[in-house]
Amino acid sequence: MTIGADRDDSDVSSIFSARSTTTAPTEWSGRDGTNTETDSDMMSLMSSMYDSTHSISSSVLNYHFENGRRYHAYHEGKYIMPNDVQEQNKLMLVHLCYELVFDGRLHLAPINNPQNALDIGTGRGDWAIDFAERYPSTQVIGIDLSPIQPLWVPPNLTFEIDDAEDDWVYSTQFDYIHTRTLCGGIRDWPQFHKRAFDNLRPGGWLEMQENDAWFQCEDGTCPKWTKIFLEKLDEASIMSGNRLNVAADQKQHMINAGFANVHDDIFKLPLSTWHDDPRWKEIGQIRGLAMNQGVEGYSLALYTRYLGWTSAQVHDLLAKVRGEFNDVNNRMYIAVHVVYGQKLEESVQA
Ligand SMILES: C[S@@+](CC[C@H](N)C(=O)[O-])C[C@H]1O[C@@H](n2cnc3c(N)ncnc32)[C@H](O)[C@@H]1O
Repeated sequence: MTIGADRDDSDVSSIFSARSTTTAPTEWSGRDGTNTETDSDMMSLMSSMYDSTHSISSSVLNYHFENGRRYHAYHEGKYIMPNDVQEQNKLMLVHLCYELVFDGRLHLAPINNPQNALDIGTGRGDWAIDFAERYPSTQVIGIDLSPIQPLWVPPNLTFEIDDAEDDWVYSTQFDYIHTRTLCGGIRDWPQFHKRAFDNLRPGGWLEMQENDAWFQCEDGTCPKWTKIFLEKLDEASIMSGNRLNVAADQKQHMINAGFANVHDDIFKLPLSTWHDDPRWKEIGQIRGLAMNQGVEGYSLALYTRYLGWTSAQVHDLLAKVRGEFNDVNNRMYIAVHVVYGQKLEESVQA
């Protein structure tokens, strides 16, 4: 069995291993020409990993390839970002970045001795693995559309392939539900928040760590090409039905769903090394690296599918956008909203 055949962490692993306790995990390989093993080998091994209610079928691995990028197969077309090595490298860098921004904290909600936790849109599972290690008596479930999680994980963590917009059929209620950069994956946010509320135990918390799909200069302006890029991105993501730039809406969604003690803590992450403070300079270096990797994944499918651009036109614009956010004189940043709220003991469902 070949595991991790399409994973190449080499370009980010030196930064990652230097700063994070999470090792770069291996992944189930997909049908992208690099897999030397048979589907049945892979299927039987994968089936043994996932529980019987969410067993893996070959359709989950039948990835969609477009303009040189690889996309999820389960509920194909639902989510517009790729799931390939380039995207996963970005996820590793963003994970590291959040670790630095939050001083090693995995959550800002004041959770206490959680018994059950759910990570929605877990991606590679980096956050879920760290959380399960930090809370070894918590049963943690991570769900995602893509089977890109590692094989070997803490015993209190399981991964399931699932769409968060399907019915939630968990056998338990949760003390803590978490998302990180899920925006762009949910069409019906009121329904999402209602489900989170219904699936929390009284006293439990929902926490969403979500970035704006918008970046700007410290003085509030936005350079020419970046502004065009972000406006088109917003237009295309609205056309897709999965608007990306909705982090700032989550606080109100939580309040509407009946959550109490709702916070929206905002952090500004530099996109290059322009900051004077060494800590934020380092954060800017890593977030900038991630943005250089990730900006194509944000936009390529949206621009080509919904705006009719060619791949070459997208790359031409991306080169100009990268030039702007990499320019330290522009002092550009992206804002992250950490939105968290509690289901009170006496909560009445909204
Ligand atoms: C930007 S990645 C973030 C991954 C992870 N939370 C992290 O911070 O490293 C977003 C993830 O959400 C998943 N996703 C998007 N929409 C989803 C949905 N409706 N149900 C389940 N997963 C979803 C994607 O497949 C992707 O892996």
